[in-house]
Amino acid sequence: MYFYKNQFLSKNDIQLSPDDRGYYFGDGIYEVFRVYNGQIYEPQAHLQRLERTASEVRIALPYTASEIGDILTELVHKNKLVEGTVYLQITRGEAPRAHPFPAETEPVVLAYCSVVPRPVASIHKGIHAITLADIRWLRCDLKTLNLLPNVMAKQAALDHGVQEVVLHRDGIVTECSASNIMIIKDQVLYTHPANHLILHGITRAVVLKLALSLAITVQEETFTTEQLYQADEAFITGTTVEITPILQIDGKPIGAGAPGPLTQKLQSEFVHTFS
Ligand code: PDD
Repeated sequence: MYFYKNQFLSKNDIQLSPDDRGYYFGDGIYEVFRVYNGQIYEPQAHLQRLERTASEVRIALPYTASEIGDILTELVHKNKLVEGTVYLQITRGEAPRAHPFPAETEPVVLAYCSVVPRPVASIHKGIHAITLADIRWLRCDLKTLNLLPNVMAKQAALDHGVQEVVLHRDGIVTECSASNIMIIKDQVLYTHPANHLILHGITRAVVLKLALSLAITVQEETFTTEQLYQADEAFITGTTVEITPILQIDGKPIGAGAPGPLTQKLQSEFVHTFS
């Protein structure tokens, strides 16, 4: 069961318009929510981010945040989803292709659930990554549909036989193709400040809170690819990856080349936030 344009209906009954501005311009916004035990994780944080993105790109949301929350909860129930994700997308609407905002069009809402098990293997075993220039625009804090650079970057990682790509601007590490990145050096956790160059990840915020509760010093400061190579530990955070250790970057081991002690502490605390 999907939600499309104000109603619940089956995927086969959805009639998408070729004039949807999502197709022509990537003119839309989205969120990916995690569902654990039939419950949406951190719904308020996701909905606040959605509202902020909508307002920054000037899409008038057709529902309040709490109405959207209710729709997504109903969607999860209708699909009897226990463990998985909810994808929500809102485009500016349908109109013949022209760059200016159309005068009279309704935003188009699409939402659906997917069964997705927790990626326990990579959470425990870690992943390998490569570094790559971050060629995205300067509003990476907005969760918009324009993901071509992210798609290209992720594919470059897979083509290199690794799972993820760490993006950098002139040597300053920003984030990954669909996750944030943190390193540990001398017991201090470093992550890029939540400014216009990264997505303000919901998981990032949860992990920073957990770090503080574990008395880990947190520095929301930039670090370089060189500092990443020299880090004691590194991991990515995100709705779909939770806290996944990076064991190797550009073919070089990070720290001992195994999930680090602080990473593992954060991982076990993280599980308590949803179980
Ligand atoms: N991506 N950075 C980028 C570029 C992302 O696309 C994401 C999430 C994150 C992590 O944010 P959060 O913790 O709120 O999931 C960071 C989603 C999962 C996606 O595009 O599929």
